Amino acid sequence: MKIVQISDTHLTAAGGPTEESFRLLADHLNTTVRPDLVVHSGDIQVLHPDDAGDREHSRQLLDLVDAPLLVIPGNHDVGMPGNNAWAGLVVTDERIAAHESVFGPGHWRHDIDTVTVIGINSELLGSNLQREADQWRWLQQTLEDIGRDRPVLLFLHKPLWAVSEVPTDHQLDVGPVARDRLLSLLGEVDLRAVGSGHLHCHRQTARGAALEVWAPATAFLASDGESLPETRQELGYIEYDVTDADVTASFCAVPGLAQRTQHDVPEIAKAIEAMTAAV
Ligand SMILES: [Fe+2]
Ligand SMILES: [Fe+2]
Repeated sequence: MKIVQISDTHLTAAGGPTEESFRLLADHLNTTVRPDLVVHSGDIQVLHPDDAGDREHSRQLLDLVDAPLLVIPGNHDVGMPGNNAWAGLVVTDERIAAHESVFGPGHWRHDIDTVTVIGINSELLGSNLQREADQWRWLQQTLEDIGRDRPVLLFLHKPLWAVSEVPTDHQLDVGPVARDRLLSLLGEVDLRAVGSGHLHCHRQTARGAALEVWAPATAFLASDGESLPETRQELGYIEYDVTDADVTASFCAVPGLAQRTQHDVPEIAKAIEAMTAAV
């Protein structure tokens, strides 16, 4: 049984290179990989969560994938929590409602074959919205229901474990408070993998019995000088192979996919320009 994780597609109604890459990916999944399930780990749309045109267009593009596809939101889809949100784009009820009206609930449980796949909205963590309390309650109840009988794969946009010891001006992971609470809850289940996006690079790290997987983006890589050390700087996707109770993960390249940074995507500069002009 094969589960594919795709991430950080950063699609825009203006088309351009990120759409070109996504069409290549969708075609490759449909004709060659034929996964049983695809999980998109967020940053579906290019930059601004309030752009309904980008959202609708992204939905249409995601529908090009033949396999069942589940989505969790990223910070560019619903905003992010806290005082240091990128470009001041804070997560709100309205932004989540707009996202969920097109892509479905931001947290979900999906049982497939011998495993249970769970998706949660990492951008709620630390937001203090009622939706955050609702998601914690749902997660606790869901993990209790699963117990230790089934291997669990968890997906969320921002990494669960700390990314860097060096303080940054933007949020790289879920932060210590949410991390401790999540790890305490997840300690009650047979956790095998935690897949995240957000960092636009790939790394795998053993975390006890679980595998931490940073999924690569399909849209663009970190610019020169901004990439995280000891990571794979290549666009692609992740394939999880599940055999009985064994879960393995591997980085996969998309044939023909051009390797780009955000400077090779003019739509990014245009979207930033539009945002700056609107302030
Ligand atoms: Fe991203
Ligand atoms: Fe992100």
